[in-house]
Amino acid sequence: MRKKIVAGNWKMNNSLNETINLINNLKQNVGRTDVKVMIAPSFPFLKTAVDQLKDVNIEVVAQNINDNKSGAFTGEVSIDMLKSIGVDSTLIGHSERRAYYYEDDELLLKKINIALEFNMNVIFCFGEELKDRKSNSHFQVVKSQLDNTVMKLDSKSWNKLVLAYEPVWAIGTGETASADQAQEIHEFVRNHISEKFNNDIANNVSILYGGSVKPSNAVEIFSKNDVDGGLIGGAALNASDFTEIIKANS
Ligand code: PGA
Repeated sequence: MRKKIVAGNWKMNNSLNETINLINNLKQNVGRTDVKVMIAPSFPFLKTAVDQLKDVNIEVVAQNINDNKSGAFTGEVSIDMLKSIGVDSTLIGHSERRAYYYEDDELLLKKINIALEFNMNVIFCFGEELKDRKSNSHFQVVKSQLDNTVMKLDSKSWNKLVLAYEPVWAIGTGETASADQAQEIHEFVRNHISEKFNNDIANNVSILYGGSVKPSNAVEIFSKNDVDGGLIGGAALNASDFTEIIKANS
């Protein structure tokens, strides 16, 4: 059975103190839940987050990794470094990485491969831009993003993968895909995985929705058959909103 997941992507927000406060709030509020909760603070605070969450069922995730093992890559962070502080999962392919740091499918596949080689779990993000949806090519764009990356993996890799559909036009804009729009893409993706691999893999991979999820729309979005949870940006910076969103997936 696939897992229900709610992951918070804190992006480049919060000081050390703000990060600690947010984690403390979450520790008090989240409690026992059958939903897998994940948070992705920025690099300098990952170790603090791991230490603070030692006895708590909240997993700490990196927002990005470098596609090389180690070496002369000034300003970059390697998988080994992350593993050495207890971080075993990473986001790859967030639309902000694609748009602002020119990460293309080829680089993203390299990142996925090195992550899997070193036994890291991957939350792989994909999703169309507004122009794609307007020209009705969103299914084609999503298919090509997946065909160039995760569809090239072998079937054994899929138990380390979570997918996150994040339509770019809905990220940080306040504009959310409707629950039906999310379901339609998630179902399409699951069918595509089933065709390329098999039903088992398709049914066991969690597919999250991301893009302006908030307490007011989370229940409806998460109620859809093929939506297994969310990747939350803005609303994950507020402990009570994030907690409500987690509860919406229970
Ligand atoms: P948002 O961000 O919830 O602020 O739209 C989602 C994301 O970027 O993962």
